[in-house]
Amino acid sequence: MFIEISNLKKSYTSGSITTEVLKGIEMKLEERDIGVILGPSGSGKSTLMNIIGGIDRGDSGRVVVNGIDINNLNDDKLTDYRREGISFVFQFYNLVPNLNVGENIEVASNISKSSLNTDEVLAAVGMQDKKHRFPRELSGGEQQRVSIARAIVKNPKLLLCDEPTGALDYQTSRSILKLLQEINEKYGTTILMITHNAAIASMANRVFKLRSGEIVEEAINQITIPAERIEW
Ligand SMILES: Nc1ncnc2c1ncn2[C@@H]1O[C@H](COP(=O)(O)OP(=O)(O)OP(=O)(O)O)[C@@H](O)[C@H]1O
Ligand SMILES: [Mg+2]
Repeated sequence: MFIEISNLKKSYTSGSITTEVLKGIEMKLEERDIGVILGPSGSGKSTLMNIIGGIDRGDSGRVVVNGIDINNLNDDKLTDYRREGISFVFQFYNLVPNLNVGENIEVASNISKSSLNTDEVLAAVGMQDKKHRFPRELSGGEQQRVSIARAIVKNPKLLLCDEPTGALDYQTSRSILKLLQEINEKYGTTILMITHNAAIASMANRVFKLRSGEIVEEAINQITIPAERIEW
């Protein structure tokens, strides 16, 4: 298993009130799979993803990713883990506004030792003609393509996507999902994606339904649907 989580718990305390946000998560995902996390707002999806990505920590339980027990890493080792193996894509693209497309990608490729070529990833996301544009000169869908290129340029083992189509219209969402599926196939990148859209689950190998900090349902899809055939 590429991701193996058992009995993961996480609480947040503000003032005298402690809220248990993850209540003993069990989760498994194989290498090269696409996993989808569904669940209502506040159910703990981003918290779970942030722990898997090493930008937050669980309170207890085991989180093993690619053989590394990340809940037991010290801060330096956790930074290395995140830097080398993990990339994120968010709903709002977080591109650097005063850097052009090529430069936005190069900032990310400089961080990693095993980076892919910038022009290659631009071609992979269909943005090779816009390398010298600035983010404000791009549509939302194009900005998301660039942020995906920035995410994959360091050739991560795991791509974590938190509502990557949340700000996009129907057709653009579908093209971004198709792109993620292509990335998964081309580079063998394991993808874990959060969405509110249950239709998207049909492109995933595994689907996890989260409610109030617990996985209430898990489905394994023997057959996955190409993103371009998903409708909602
Ligand atoms: N840093 C924090 N401090 C305190 N509470 C937090 C913190 N981060 C998240 N929470 C709380 O944890 C719960 C789960 O939040 P989380 O962001 O994981 O939900 P989500 O499922 O991603 O929701 P959404 O679909 O709205 O993004 C929420 O009740 C939220 O208020
Ligand atoms: Mg969230």
